[in-house]
Amino acid sequence: MKDPLIEAALAAREHAFAPFSRFKVGAALQDKEGRVFTGCNIENASYGLTLCAERVAVFKAVSEGVRKFARIVVAADTATLTPPCGACRQILWEFCGNARLTLVNLNGQRQDMHIGDIFPGPFDATFL
Ligand code: THU
Repeated sequence: MKDPLIEAALAAREHAFAPFSRFKVGAALQDKEGRVFTGCNIENASYGLTLCAERVAVFKAVSEGVRKFARIVVAADTATLTPPCGACRQILWEFCGNARLTLVNLNGQRQDMHIGDIFPGPFDATFL
């Protein structure tokens, strides 16, 4: 059965601007009302300015006033499914909490988990 959030992440991946790594990533984030916000990685000649797909999706949604998220899908073309990087795990935890996380590749493989599964012992606003 088709999963529209997976389709959205795969489509967003096509927009990746990744001329340096050639590693394209797509993300699709769904809020608790069902709205979808997508992101792709956006690289820069000054490499450190690169933004990951996950953070682009989160920041698009947050900048539009959305604060409650249900699920995120991350899509990349790897046999071992690509997980969010460390920086994205922190951002995802802070904005999405223990939301559902699905990793997919172009061969139809998928893995379902929660953000907390890949980010144990988080630092967050509860410490401040
Ligand atoms: N990348 C993402 O967009 N998300 C991840 O979770 C892992 C890495 C991007 C950043 C960079 O443009 C490329 O993949 C290679 O690291």
